[in-house]
Amino acid sequence: MKPDHIEKIVGSIDRLPTLPAIYTRLSHLLAQSDSTVRTIAEVISEDPTIAAKILKIVNSAFYGFPKKIGNLQRAVVILGLNEIKSMVFATSILKTFTQLDSVCEFDMKSYWEHSVGCAVSARIVAEAAYLKSPEDVFTGGLLHDIGKLIHALYLPQEFSRVIAEVEQTGIPMIESEQGVFGFTHTHTGRILAEKWHFPEETVNMVAHHHVEGDSPKLSKGVAAVHLGNTLCIAFGLGSAGERVVPTVNQKAWEILGLQISDLESISGRIHKSFREASVILE
Ligand SMILES: [Fe+2]
Ligand SMILES: [Fe+2]
Repeated sequence: MKPDHIEKIVGSIDRLPTLPAIYTRLSHLLAQSDSTVRTIAEVISEDPTIAAKILKIVNSAFYGFPKKIGNLQRAVVILGLNEIKSMVFATSILKTFTQLDSVCEFDMKSYWEHSVGCAVSARIVAEAAYLKSPEDVFTGGLLHDIGKLIHALYLPQEFSRVIAEVEQTGIPMIESEQGVFGFTHTHTGRILAEKWHFPEETVNMVAHHHVEGDSPKLSKGVAAVHLGNTLCIAFGLGSAGERVVPTVNQKAWEILGLQISDLESISGRIHKSFREASVILE
């Protein structure tokens, strides 16, 4: 690793804004068995930006309710607790990062589309593979390439060189990052995910989504984010700068226990859910 680069990254992550308090509070609340729809709606209403976004999502064409829903408690009931958690997390992350501007020519809009695309794809893969907490896989998918964003914000000149090299040669971004920085967005993403105290499994999804080498940390959740990333690149849902669709790691595919024939229904559901989740980007 190039010590001055990694030091700069660690220092920048220390100065990053923390996630809005609402996400942490909601996570604690949802972990308690006695939380009610009312208390959940109350917590959400404390952050007007996020509350407004949740109402926008529930009123989007996807849910197709004839009457406008203006009440957060109803929104919580309609979306369900897991969906609420995913949506509050996604809007919290977006709120945190859209305040920051990059001077690097990294296309932020496409980056966020790719992140939401991967989150949705990974969750659908997780559901198809009967994972216990598909919403946690959504979180891992949304965060998986966050290291690229940190590079774009805090090492913009070097990251521009990475983007240009990937563009010209078609090599995977991690290969170019290794040459330019001496580390990759998976290392940087891990530092951020640990700083934000995400559970170990979420940290692993971010740190190992490219499933390199033996990957002893390869779990079903990691494999779901890995496959979700590949599918959303293949379907062209946004872009985080890769030129070529990555190959699916054989072990990751096997651990999920899916059949090739499952991919047809998975891809149909991904397109549908991506349209729904895109409301959070508006
Ligand atoms: Fe990646
Ligand atoms: Fe990605």
